[in-house]
Amino acid sequence: MAELAKTFDVVVIGAGPGGYIAAIRAAQLGMQVACIDEWQTADGKPAPGGTCTNVGCIPSKALLQSSENYDHAAHAFADHGIKVGSLSMDVAQMLKRKDKVVKQNNDGILYLLKKNKVTFFHGKGAFAGGAAGAWQVKVSGKASESLVAKHVIVATGSSPRALPGAPFDNKLILDNSGALAITEVPKRLGVIGAGVIGLEMGSVWRRLGSAVTVLEALPAFLGAADEAVAKEANKVFVKQGLAIHTAVKVGTVKCAKEVTVEYNDSAGKAQTLTVDKLIVSIGRVPHTEGLNAAAVGLKLDERGFVAVDEHCKTNLPNVWAVGDVVRGPMLAHKAEEEGVAVAQRIAGKYGHVDFNTVPWVIYTSPEIAWVGKTEQQVKSEGIEYRTGSFPFMANGRARALGDTTGFVKFIADKKTDRILGVHIIGPMASELIAEAVVAMEFGASSEDIAMICHAHPSLSEAMKEAALAVDGRTLNL
Ligand code: FAD
Ligand code: NAI
Repeated sequence: MAELAKTFDVVVIGAGPGGYIAAIRAAQLGMQVACIDEWQTADGKPAPGGTCTNVGCIPSKALLQSSENYDHAAHAFADHGIKVGSLSMDVAQMLKRKDKVVKQNNDGILYLLKKNKVTFFHGKGAFAGGAAGAWQVKVSGKASESLVAKHVIVATGSSPRALPGAPFDNKLILDNSGALAITEVPKRLGVIGAGVIGLEMGSVWRRLGSAVTVLEALPAFLGAADEAVAKEANKVFVKQGLAIHTAVKVGTVKCAKEVTVEYNDSAGKAQTLTVDKLIVSIGRVPHTEGLNAAAVGLKLDERGFVAVDEHCKTNLPNVWAVGDVVRGPMLAHKAEEEGVAVAQRIAGKYGHVDFNTVPWVIYTSPEIAWVGKTEQQVKSEGIEYRTGSFPFMANGRARALGDTTGFVKFIADKKTDRILGVHIIGPMASELIAEAVVAMEFGASSEDIAMICHAHPSLSEAMKEAALAVDGRTLNL
């Protein structure tokens, strides 16, 4: 007898930050929800959380913290009057701790799904036919299941992009998973791409002792950031020991016992880089493989993303897509916001994602964070503006911390004073940026921030001072 299909209001394919959050919100709104995810641990157990939890946000921050602690013990503690005898590191323990943090998150997500009565299926989800209101989804895992869904949310994420002719082997040529699992500090580490992964992972291994060389194709370093921030970041990273070469053209990559990268430098001169390991972090591509999208006519755009409108609707009725697999920044919090908004829309409620106030954070040391427009953007859009900056050097808490690198920069409309962008490079920039996000979401002016009482001594006073600086009224500089 044919197996009876299980019927749901919503079936979510993918349990990364986009998918599992969409599933939880849909369940909270009273719908019958299933969530399918294929990620598994080395011993075959489900590991929901997607790239973010397993090989992205969470493990990278765990290793960034461990390596920063080591770096502080080696270089910063003495200044605080703390003497450390002979310092040594245990990379295996660092990786073990990172894995434990990941597992806590996997288990937490499984618990949340269960608590919210979301039915979790461990396996690959694929369209198997159907039509509006009754999409058929097949799960292939240890057991196979046939599901029928009124709505489907595709949240299948992204995969690392490889260099042409240099496939990842995760022994010598590493993607993000490989970069997070290096078991011995490589003497020489190469990084292709000075983007977010390249800088974060390059920082981890540099702090632990690798000589790191970064090759970037674009002439501008951190082109997406405000120019003043990018310039400061370049200066600091070079001082820390990262060798950064921009405007290079990477050619052949050869692997033997080591990796040799042939490239032309910014002057067009042929160069060779030989390293023990090579991290390739040149962006990511949408992951739609195995979804059987073509069979149901799910439209992809010219770059392979699932094509969606501003409400995350695909070309198929009742089929939605969120997160890295659709246009927009590849960020966990953007995926989550889209997931919530889609669940709301399915329930006939209002769904909201404000792309103008999605914050960006790069978790290097100093951290880099921004929201809104850069100065080069407002200039090119012909907007009249004023800026105000305040250095952490003049902030009492930063001095007490012993971390005075960087500054806060506000950009405000010249006539209305409305905040257009806030850019931070410095200690705890990832936390400080939240104030700017709230301010921009509420349409605040720089004067609003300047008039708010900020605790003393705190790094947040640099936000107030930079806002005051827009009107030339800084108090502590
Ligand atoms: P994913 O997290 O990729 O999840 C997709 C899930 O779907 C996966 O579990 C996958 O196995 C599953 N799946 C795919 N196809 C199928 C199928 N057919 N059937 C069943 N399951 C399927 N972003 C930040 O905001 N902050 C950070 O600090 C940050 N750090 C990062 C560090 C690194 C090294 C990397 C690589 C990324 C980082 N990101 C960060 C980006 C962030 O990880 C992604 O933006 C986020 O994970 C996207 O969420 P998602 O739900 O769209 O996709
Ligand atoms: P990225 O887009 O941040 O950076 C890729 C870099 O590689 C760019 O500077 C690009 O110019 C360069 N590049 C491209 N092709 C090249 C080539 N052939 N040779 C040399 N350089 C080349 O991508 P990355 O670092 O791979 O990260 C992927 C995404 O993951 C990010 O865009 C981000 O959305 C997300 N992420 C977010 C983090 C965070 O929020 N803190 C941390 C890590 C990743």
